[in-house]
Amino acid sequence: MIQSEQQRRAYLEALGIDVWLPRDQPDPEEASDSSVVDAGGLDWSELRIAVAACRRCALHESRTQTVFGVGDPDSDWMIIGEAPGAEEDRRGEPFVGRAGKLLDEMLRAVGQARDSVFIANILKCRPPNNRDPKPAESSACRTYLERQIQLVQPKIILAVGRIAAQLLLDTDSPVGRLRGSAHQLGNIPLVVTYHPAYLLRSPSQKRKAWDDLCLAKRIAAGASP
Ligand code: URA
Repeated sequence: MIQSEQQRRAYLEALGIDVWLPRDQPDPEEASDSSVVDAGGLDWSELRIAVAACRRCALHESRTQTVFGVGDPDSDWMIIGEAPGAEEDRRGEPFVGRAGKLLDEMLRAVGQARDSVFIANILKCRPPNNRDPKPAESSACRTYLERQIQLVQPKIILAVGRIAAQLLLDTDSPVGRLRGSAHQLGNIPLVVTYHPAYLLRSPSQKRKAWDDLCLAKRIAAGASP
């Protein structure tokens, strides 16, 4: 069921139906406080529609399309990256460029096909020139990711790269310090590893990423974190 006025508007906009607001009422999409936005309670198809219609931050102006996420919605594994790049923006799917190919190989090495995990990003829209997400963008988008996590209910979250790890864990610590042990996101274990784009530039770190994926695999299989 579509629950809030915001969600109803997103739904109607996605269907191409104009939505009019009374003059004296603030437009919730212009609100800088992202707490007014709540994707909680949406089912998968409603969430997809809400994301596709989203205009909560300025990135909607420059995107080709939103990049919702892909994979098995019932997976034990959820992979969370930073934001779509140029190729992802063009194709509407996360991790489809060179870094994505490496991510696929890393997952395959621990027995996970790309379509057996759920892959999403902190941001659903590409930041221009692949710059880092701005705080207002990541907080505006967070409700969608939180709902995706609630719906997937993974046994393990793999945060790839500094931005995803720091935003999810609300920390400034570098990946080198965050990786190597399990964290908790609510009641879900979370393992941090290097971003595959970084591993393409620094292949000597692949060994550590392998260790991280093995840790994630053990936790997904039921080992205590
Ligand atoms: N990098 C990310 O973090 N996410 C993508 O989808 C692509 C590249």
